[in-house]
Amino acid sequence: MRVLILENYDRISAWAANYIAEKINAFTPNAGNPFVLGLPTGSSPLGTYRELISLYKAGKVSFRNVVTFNMDEYVGIPEDHPQSYHYFMQENFFKHIDIRPENIHILNGNAPDLVAECAAYEEAIRNAGGIDLFLGGVGSDGHIAFNEPGSSLVSRTRIKTLTTETIYANARFFDNNMDKVPKTALTVGIGTIMDAGQVMILVSGHTKARALRHAIEGPISHMWTITALQMHPHVIIVCDRAATGELKTETVRYFMDIEKDNL
Ligand code: GLP
Repeated sequence: MRVLILENYDRISAWAANYIAEKINAFTPNAGNPFVLGLPTGSSPLGTYRELISLYKAGKVSFRNVVTFNMDEYVGIPEDHPQSYHYFMQENFFKHIDIRPENIHILNGNAPDLVAECAAYEEAIRNAGGIDLFLGGVGSDGHIAFNEPGSSLVSRTRIKTLTTETIYANARFFDNNMDKVPKTALTVGIGTIMDAGQVMILVSGHTKARALRHAIEGPISHMWTITALQMHPHVIIVCDRAATGELKTETVRYFMDIEKDNL
């Protein structure tokens, strides 16, 4: 696991976007062999999306031959609802870049058969050749995508019930009204994320400090699903100073030292 500790959110965003653009460019994707990118929603990736849009506008990266799979989507809210992940991705990223609409994949939380929808999503990922790079955030309870505490660490795409902590955290997007937050979501599984060639997790702010401590220093546990990434051969955690608040001083020193030429 690589851990990059940067000064603040803006530095994380710039670092992550440059890294993603470099990976896409190094892959030299074409229509027959696209780069497959897994994507999250939330406040963590917003800055990275902004930076990627700038890189695209500056001609430094193209998404023409990039295929995307989003991590998750709420069940039962319309796609044009301002808090749906379909809407979020369109507004904050897709409409600003040159991605082909047919290359965008987001789980349909309104599908008549949600189980079949999840199975079809797994198949679509397989048919695309697997995910090359999965970008993600982390919830304050250590969840990735919507793999809440207690999720199987070998889980696949499926329906999940959200925890009260997650509903509380996301209520800020729903008029601060927990009753308006959907109670279930479709999400890729931990196993789905673990199959990606590489995983990059963005962690910002002191509210994520406990999750980051578990991710890096804790034992692997389904109660902190992010810890499964300790078993992934190619993970990069990009975090800011505030998020390191619960790490041991020696842990911070170690990663600052080993990555000093990459910061
Ligand atoms: C939601 C999303 C996750 C995201 C998490 C943290 O639960 N399903 O993918 O990582 O929130 O969100 P934020 O980045 O806004 O803190």
